[in-house]
Amino acid sequence: MLVDTKQAIVLLKQGQVVAIPTETVYGLAADASNDKALRQIYAIKQRPADNPLIVHIAAASQISDWAAEFPPLAQKLAKAFWPGPFTLVLPAKPHVSLIVRGNQPTVALRVPSHELALQLLKESGLALAAPSANKFTQLSPTTASHVATSLGEDIPVLDGGACKVGIESTIVSVIGDDWQLLRLGMVSEASIETLAGKPALKNQVDLPKAPGQHLLHYSPKTPIKLFPSREALINYVKVSKKSCAALLIGEGEDIDKLPNCQHLTLSKQAMQAAKQLYSALHTMDAFNVEQLLVEAPPNAPEWLAILDRLTRAAH
Ligand code: TXA
Ligand code: MG
Repeated sequence: MLVDTKQAIVLLKQGQVVAIPTETVYGLAADASNDKALRQIYAIKQRPADNPLIVHIAAASQISDWAAEFPPLAQKLAKAFWPGPFTLVLPAKPHVSLIVRGNQPTVALRVPSHELALQLLKESGLALAAPSANKFTQLSPTTASHVATSLGEDIPVLDGGACKVGIESTIVSVIGDDWQLLRLGMVSEASIETLAGKPALKNQVDLPKAPGQHLLHYSPKTPIKLFPSREALINYVKVSKKSCAALLIGEGEDIDKLPNCQHLTLSKQAMQAAKQLYSALHTMDAFNVEQLLVEAPPNAPEWLAILDRLTRAAH
């Protein structure tokens, strides 16, 4: 059910959920300080209660409403990447709902850059908890119609067009002047490292984890197989007896060797490919074939976030 900005604000203020556009993916939003509203998010998504939500705010000046500390490194990162596809995990103020933070001592915060999301945040005066607007472990939505496919026609959706970034935000937890990468998005690890002046902490047992980073994630309903090269994918199609559809990176003459397998292609340029990724997977899922075959992206830093999503989708 499509709603406009005014209707969305009324519903959110009443403690209802509304699916909203952001530049990364559509989020299932609710008032972040209303526990009853937050419980609806978990129920609709069928999401485990220990998987915390990101709180979306209108500007970095609202950090102090949520975080007990805002260390200089976090301030620097916020200044560089907000509004944008970047989430900061910081120690939470005691009043912050345990539901929104999934019982963690921390809270995740993000200022999105989508015009409509910012307008909602500013005009409502609310902070909005919003996980991706899909059922737990499924593909994230990058259009209003993806939301309806995943969550049903009854969910109110504010249509803000196709998401420009296309994959979920980069999540960083900041502890004093140290930082840890919890999820990679299109804000790169290298760009954070440059600003921080030091590499991310890694593999320490006592570091906070992102509880939601299950290996099975971002999955279409059709099983996915990931191939290290296009050649390996084509060789597989030649011998496989199952119906299939292939997702390739960039055009190429060898695509003609796949007569019994429909295919879609992503751009050869990583930023463009990220924007196309979930839409392509949603489309291929609707082909109702027995398997989806995906060519792994190039082995380069700008493709790492896409590789992460594809690896989880194929798990
Ligand atoms: O781009 C995005 O981040 C989108 C849009 C809607 O903003 N949101 C999104 O939310 O991807 P979700 O719920 O699908 O993923 C949020 C991730 C989960 O893996 C969760 O575990 C992690 O953020 N997270 C949230 N709060 C956290 C916390 N306090 N500590 C560690 N991880 C946290
Ligand atoms: Mg998600």
